[in-house]
Amino acid sequence: MNEELKVSKIKNGTVIDHITAGMAPIVLRILGIGKGCSDTVIVAMNVKSHQIGLKDMVKVENRALAQETVKKIALVAPHATVNIIKDYKVAQKFKVELPSELIGVVRCPNRNCITNSGERVSSYFTVESKDPLALRCHYCEVLVDGASVDILL
Ligand code: CTP
Ligand code: ZN
Repeated sequence: MNEELKVSKIKNGTVIDHITAGMAPIVLRILGIGKGCSDTVIVAMNVKSHQIGLKDMVKVENRALAQETVKKIALVAPHATVNIIKDYKVAQKFKVELPSELIGVVRCPNRNCITNSGERVSSYFTVESKDPLALRCHYCEVLVDGASVDILL
């Protein structure tokens, strides 16, 4: 069955498409969707995509994404597409993209890092590689990969 038939269209809001299969729950956490959230949300997991095999998809009604949110999604779903829906039409479409520096987005795993010291120093990583993911802490130089990335929520 075609994915279009399984998941209904939305009127206004954001569709995050081509999410790496299995990552929708993390995308929901990044979006702050959970208990106490009243947004209408449609989630599809492991649906067929002609581009990437299986994919996940998240549709949120009446919601726009902040730039910080898009960066966080790029960390866990590097091939995701964001579609802004206005009156049932795709008004805008863009691919998520990881910037070359991430400030206040990822927690440094080094307990002794200045960014974990209780001082008000935001985490600061430079992106050494996007695929596979490799982030370097600007302060303590620790290297973080995709499996150990700890996103600040
Ligand atoms: N979509 C939706 N509600 C709408 C319009 C579109 O939920 N009112 C969804 C579609 O189901 C699709 C995504 O938004 O998952 C992008 O729509 P569209 O650009 O029409 O689809 P494709 O051309 O297949 O997109 P792409 O080329 O990015 O794969
Ligand atoms: Zn550090």
